[in-house]
Amino acid sequence: MTESPLLERLFAAEPRAIARVLSMVENEDPAASQLMAAVHSRIGGVFVVGVTGPPGAGKSTLVAQLITRIRATGRRVAVLAVDPSSPYSGGALLGDRVRMQEHASDKGVFIRSMATRGHLGGLARTTADAAAVLGAAGFDLVIIETVGVGQDEVEVVRAADVSVVTLVPGTGDDVQALKAGVMEIADIFVINKADLPGAERAAEAIGMALSLEERPSAGWRPPVLRVTATTGDGVPALLAAIDHFRTSRGPNGHVRRRERLEVALREHATARWLQHLEHETLGPGDWQGLVDRLASGNIDRDAAVEWLLHRAASAARAQASTSPLLDHVGVAVRDVAASRQFFEGVLGFAMQPVEEVPSQHVRVAFLETGDSKVELVETTREDSAVGRFLARHGPGLHHLAFRVTDLDATLAHLTACGVRLVDAQPRAGAHGRRVAFVHPQSAHGVLVELVEELRDGHEDR
Ligand code: CO
Repeated sequence: MTESPLLERLFAAEPRAIARVLSMVENEDPAASQLMAAVHSRIGGVFVVGVTGPPGAGKSTLVAQLITRIRATGRRVAVLAVDPSSPYSGGALLGDRVRMQEHASDKGVFIRSMATRGHLGGLARTTADAAAVLGAAGFDLVIIETVGVGQDEVEVVRAADVSVVTLVPGTGDDVQALKAGVMEIADIFVINKADLPGAERAAEAIGMALSLEERPSAGWRPPVLRVTATTGDGVPALLAAIDHFRTSRGPNGHVRRRERLEVALREHATARWLQHLEHETLGPGDWQGLVDRLASGNIDRDAAVEWLLHRAASAARAQASTSPLLDHVGVAVRDVAASRQFFEGVLGFAMQPVEEVPSQHVRVAFLETGDSKVELVETTREDSAVGRFLARHGPGLHHLAFRVTDLDATLAHLTACGVRLVDAQPRAGAHGRRVAFVHPQSAHGVLVELVEELRDGHEDR
């Protein structure tokens, strides 16, 4: 299969193709996940530099200076500016972007703003995917610049190959940032506006904090560099530190790369698993029903998650197993509404709304018990099957219901085996599913109901 023209253009670093693929990644376009497979095979040796720090630390000016230095070494560099508002907005940020315009005509530079809102799969994943796209487009370095130091932004920078934390002296931001836990992610500290009074003290404060800290990345002590981004003073030393960090990790010792891949994997797997669970495993209305129960205080969040895990496990077992699964146990009661008191109030079941099934002259309500259910059945006509059962036996266990994928085929098989059926043809059961009953004479005294799974892709398991 030949590559799509869009990918060819991306690999040729055509700016409009890069922008288009980045938009697809950012908008979580379904086609993007297909492209990402090709992108990941072409990432090459891209190195991702995270630059973070509180607002006003001069990060954009610093990044603009870094671009100049990186270009001077002949390397190609891309910048992803993670903007908490929408792309290309915000006064201060816009001003910084304008400063970057000096690189606008340079084909070896690519600059892009990314909004932080609306990433269902997680900002860190979207950013990691975007960095991979830029790697596939042949950029040697990708700088991810965050505007602030919020939790999402820290996650983004944590996923970079090297993290640069930028502070300014004398604003109190240095102390704030240390408190915010940004400290732990820093591989390199930059004190910008180093000509301001207090730069020395800020550097000492960081050095002090570092000496007390146990760092996970052993063998690297984060340098504290003093820079004046507006003039470019100290920027060559910063680039040298970045390159030094890269080489110190060794060609195969990409600890951060591993971490980045793990973050992306974790977020992607979570999003996909939830999607699969909601659309493939759960029945129609199950998800909303769960939210309803959560909202009404019927269950707490832990119990809701347990229920989801249970359903997922059941579905996996059902897929692996070929034997019929128990769908529900039918219990004949005199009054479904009255039985709610015991099942819901005393035993704590979540009871689904009462449903009328005219074809069987019954009203039913299902009790959730995880994979299977209990069906409470009352009759609306004394001469119906359930009515006669109640008259003869009183309330009690009434039938077992098993799930089948193809009811017509099952009925044909049973007929061929000489089984006596109550229903030769399927009829309409509860939940809009097709059902048929097997006569107790052929099933050792038990009335057996066969329930067909819904076929519209939202099977009611
Ligand atoms: Co039933």
